[in-house]
Amino acid sequence: MLNTILTGDRPTGKLHLGHYVGSLKTRVEMQANPTNNLYVMIADVQALTDNAKNPEKVASNILEVALDYLAVGLDPTKTTMFIQSQIPQIAELTMFYMNLVSVARVRRNPTVKSEIEQKKFGEGVPTGFFVYPISQAADITAFKANLVPVGEDQKPMLEQAQEIVHSFNATYDDVLVHPKGVFPPKGMGRLPGIDGNGKMSKSLGNGIYLADSADIVQKKVMSMYTDPNHIHVADPGQVEGNMVFTYLDVFGTEKEKIQELKEHYRRGGLGDVKIKRYLIDVLEAELAPIRARREEFAKNPDHVMDILRQGSLAAEKVAAETLSEVKSAMGINYFN
Ligand code: TRP
Repeated sequence: MLNTILTGDRPTGKLHLGHYVGSLKTRVEMQANPTNNLYVMIADVQALTDNAKNPEKVASNILEVALDYLAVGLDPTKTTMFIQSQIPQIAELTMFYMNLVSVARVRRNPTVKSEIEQKKFGEGVPTGFFVYPISQAADITAFKANLVPVGEDQKPMLEQAQEIVHSFNATYDDVLVHPKGVFPPKGMGRLPGIDGNGKMSKSLGNGIYLADSADIVQKKVMSMYTDPNHIHVADPGQVEGNMVFTYLDVFGTEKEKIQELKEHYRRGGLGDVKIKRYLIDVLEAELAPIRARREEFAKNPDHVMDILRQGSLAAEKVAAETLSEVKSAMGINYFN
């Protein structure tokens, strides 16, 4: 079975451990299977839907996100990494798909709804932002992706894309491929931030980044939210909701040792500094090689941009083929 897989990220900041466990690791695993054809897109057009006034923020993060991709082991000889804005066919497909979706349907998208609230857009929501799920359907269908690995918050985008595929194929001809969402395994989807307040995110300032130095990682772990009632080492402590143990469960490999640490912590007599030191070692085992690869690639940004340029050229060829089929199905390929 051949799979075409498409996924991507908005380039609004560097990627953190939440991205790593929630999606980047899965991509690297998928890439290793030669029957998978993996596309990873830097969604700058989508990022611009709520950053129109500061395009430099979006533009400057393209290299950062690409460095994060290469650092975790995405390999340009196996995976097509590309920039959304360099594929004009996506914009064309978006125009055609908009005619198949009602305003009422777009308004019902719960993720967009809550983003509009969070960003306090109200009636001032940019039209491009409002319809980005339609553009995302174009991202996915341009490559005839059958699998789309994303976070739980992207479920409504997948449903919208599936509806568009169904409507297009029923209205015109069977050209588009039904995309299936692939969601993170339980517990991997929502890594909380180091402060224990909601999920790790740039806006909350509670993240550990793949680009963070060992020194910064150490400081962040040392400031992690544990059990506020665990004041003296001898006090019994709480493991649930204690970020150090939450992270050990996600990143640790020595399950027995972690179980013993939890029991000791619950009994009392185990200090926060000890468990934090252990977590630093656990995280560094994972992060040190990633950081080293990132620094290596960062020495040659032209090379990284060339990887994206080659990826974008390859991606455009595929999208152009789909667009041509789409136009033929619609009967508007006038000169063919
Ligand atoms: N909306 C996705 C996010 O915010 C990014 C994205 C854009 C995407 N286009 C996509 C993800 C297509 C999967 C497929 O994370």
